[in-house]
Amino acid sequence: CGIVGYVGNSSREAAGYSALDVVVEGLRRLEYRGYDSAGVAVVADGAISSRKKSGKLSNLIEELEAHPVPKSLTGIGHTRWATHGGPTDRNAHPHLSDGGRLAVIHNGIIENFAELRQELLAKGVTFESETDTEVAAALLGDIFRNQLNGDGGSLTEAMRLACQRLEGAFTLLAVHADQPDVVVAARRNSPLVVGLGDGENFLGSDVSGFIDYTRRAVELGQDQIVTITADTVEITDFFGAPAEGKEYHVDWDPASAEKGGFSSFMEKEINDQPDAVAQTLLGRSDLNGKLTLDELRIDPELLKQVDKIIVLACGTAAYAGLVAKYAIENWCRIPTEVELAHEFRYRDPIVDSNTLVVSISQSGETMDTLMAVRYAREQGAKTISICNTNGSTIPRESDAVLYTHAGPEIAVASTKAFLAQITAAYLLGLYLAQLRGNIFSGQIKDVLADLNKIPAKIQSILDNAGPLRELARSMKDEKSVLFLGRHVGYPVALEGALKLKEIAYIHAEGFAAGELKHGPIALIDDGQPVFVVVPSPRGRDSLHSKVVSNIQEVRARGARTLVIAEEGDESVKDYAEHVFYVPETPTLLMPLLTTVPLQIFAAELAGAKGYDVDQPRNLAKSVTVE
Ligand code: G6P
Repeated sequence: CGIVGYVGNSSREAAGYSALDVVVEGLRRLEYRGYDSAGVAVVADGAISSRKKSGKLSNLIEELEAHPVPKSLTGIGHTRWATHGGPTDRNAHPHLSDGGRLAVIHNGIIENFAELRQELLAKGVTFESETDTEVAAALLGDIFRNQLNGDGGSLTEAMRLACQRLEGAFTLLAVHADQPDVVVAARRNSPLVVGLGDGENFLGSDVSGFIDYTRRAVELGQDQIVTITADTVEITDFFGAPAEGKEYHVDWDPASAEKGGFSSFMEKEINDQPDAVAQTLLGRSDLNGKLTLDELRIDPELLKQVDKIIVLACGTAAYAGLVAKYAIENWCRIPTEVELAHEFRYRDPIVDSNTLVVSISQSGETMDTLMAVRYAREQGAKTISICNTNGSTIPRESDAVLYTHAGPEIAVASTKAFLAQITAAYLLGLYLAQLRGNIFSGQIKDVLADLNKIPAKIQSILDNAGPLRELARSMKDEKSVLFLGRHVGYPVALEGALKLKEIAYIHAEGFAAGELKHGPIALIDDGQPVFVVVPSPRGRDSLHSKVVSNIQEVRARGARTLVIAEEGDESVKDYAEHVFYVPETPTLLMPLLTTVPLQIFAAELAGAKGYDVDQPRNLAKSVTVE
């Protein structure tokens, strides 16, 4: 979900600003987070005016044109991704209370809302929606009016008292008609940043919400309340003790978050991948092939003691984690497990102070991953976060962070962040191997040299994707597509299938090719399309020939075989309806290349079906609920 808040003074008014414009523009910038309804509230003429609509932001804008709100310099806005209650107009935010004089927007989940609702119902409060947010709004309104007697300046105090009663994860923003120049916000385990302007201040669920207006941002801590006016920002904890926010400069280029001439953000981001990998490699090794991850700020002696690594992530990031396992075990000889964060968290896993937990998250806000990291830390594990978003919660709550430098990823389905995550995981694996003396420095130097050649190789795949795109368009009516791979080709197959599910809504499954004969082969029927990710034939063992046998097995049963193989691999030609070649590279690094055709395939096919590839139905970019 996206959240924006704004307060400006008369100098901003003179400059032609209005809260509504700023808030709607902020919501537009936050669209990438995914949402299914949107709403705004402004304070003007001693009253709250609020409009909300299910569906896209354009629906809300139409509503605002049909029923305008008065001009104002104080406002809040929200894009909602439904959790409690369906994506209807009524369930959209803001929610009003205190006789319509108070408006509240909220991200996250209030876990004790049912109990609070009962309590408020008993006091005679009535509810219009099924949402936990309305309960929060009613609680805040009740405290403001009945406990604090509606004292002029007490919205902040009411927020503190309300937060003391709320359980769960939330960001809350409130405006009140009695305090027209103020927005009050609270955060617990859910993202919120402050933007500092001149005669105006902002709130956003991330800096994109105000990046058009200011580059000065303030990071908030957990369980804090912030009150903004046009000229002041006051931060306290939930009990009123003053707190300091950390100011930082936002160096994101807003233009880099635009589509740059491509038909979608996803297409742009697929094309950004040479850069995403190059940027992630940049400055992390010296000319002698020595890795210098100084930013890791974790005692190297502690890392030497690690006897087990657990990689935690969700979605695409978890597949990057699977690739990491193959690489880290190969280079470091440390047993490495990969687990979906939400499964790890709730099964009493075995973790101790010699365990290194590596979390992978593009957004750094995925609640499932955050909770797993927190839990691991409580059990004494060392935690390193691989993350794409500076200052986000997961890196802040980890012992150390290795940032991926993919730049902002806007499309909901992850592409460039995935390749950057894999790249960062390789660097981490090599670094651990270097530290522990597992492999020779010459070998590290060779891998780094191979990694540095990857961006140009990705570019050549992008430049030669014509036939693949044509195939994708011709397959737009397929009902089901399967993906097979072995070794690091297995997570690539899983990711290829996930991309197709996410954006083209086609049933797709990825399998370990060796598992085929144990079940999935029963699915193969005449004309069933099967992508096969083939490892390099130059590898030492029989991996390659095993996969080639798998192609033959499915082909013999009528499958249409679509093969991703290394340039020069003639052996696959006889068994493939189509072969898409990727440049030569060592097997362990192949996911950085073999994933790309599968991303292009999914994006092109979904585009041909007429779908919005950037904002697939039912999905959110950053899932901040468990
Ligand atoms: C959501 C997104 C996925 C993403 C996953 C993990 O489900 O839709 O595309 O892979 O979250 O996100 P993270 O930000 O933690 O990498």
